[in-house]
Amino acid sequence: MRVVIAKDYEDMSARAARIVAGQIYLKPNSVLGLATGSTPLLMYKNLIMVHHQVGLDFSEVVSFNLDEYLGLQSSNEQSYTYYMYHNFFKHVNINKKNIHIPDGMTQNVELECQNYDNSILERGGTDLQILGIGTNGHIGFNEPDIKFEATTHKVKLDDETIHANSRFFNSIEAVPRFAISMGIKNIMHAKKIILLADGENKADVIYRALFEGITPKVPASILQLHQDVTVIVEERAAQMLKTRSQFENK
Ligand code: F6R
Repeated sequence: MRVVIAKDYEDMSARAARIVAGQIYLKPNSVLGLATGSTPLLMYKNLIMVHHQVGLDFSEVVSFNLDEYLGLQSSNEQSYTYYMYHNFFKHVNINKKNIHIPDGMTQNVELECQNYDNSILERGGTDLQILGIGTNGHIGFNEPDIKFEATTHKVKLDDETIHANSRFFNSIEAVPRFAISMGIKNIMHAKKIILLADGENKADVIYRALFEGITPKVPASILQLHQDVTVIVEERAAQMLKTRSQFENK
């Protein structure tokens, strides 16, 4: 595990975008695992800039989003489908048929999950997975006490997640209670992973995820077992990683 402390949100986002751009230059048909939320927004903006300025080509890129709320139409501004098109996809030349996001309006959740897992496998697995982290340690919507062996599945959102995500909705009641999320097993199968964290509200959980025991209570702690994880933590989120030696030996 490499832990990089970025000096601010801009620096964190630029570093992440460089890794993603490098991946696409080396393998134009890369399979990317994508996250939503506040954290990767500027990373997406940077990638759009690289696309416009130096022609980074997304035409062969394949994407799989981590998660989607159940019960929100893709036209709903709070859906992750809307987020992805609005903040990223419509600004680059990715081929629509290569975009995968769980269908939050599916009538058959189990089948949707199975099909999602199968599509990832058919595309040869994820080359590079981007992750944010919830204040409760979730990655994707794999909430505390998740089974590490889970693949794509229906999740009941944790109260902490509902509360955290209510900032995007008109009221806390409007936040969906259920979602579809890739499981920890899907995430751990990725060849490379980048975990991003910014803001002081992530400081405690980043410390627990990286330096305390591996436990389903902090789902992100499983990443300690992955062979190729780069954690890019902006300074405020890194404030509990007090001494360099703590992360240099990781
Ligand atoms: C979203 C996702 C979540 C977020 C996490 C952090 O697709 O997978 O795990 O990464 O909730 O969200 P932000 O970045 O809004 O703090």
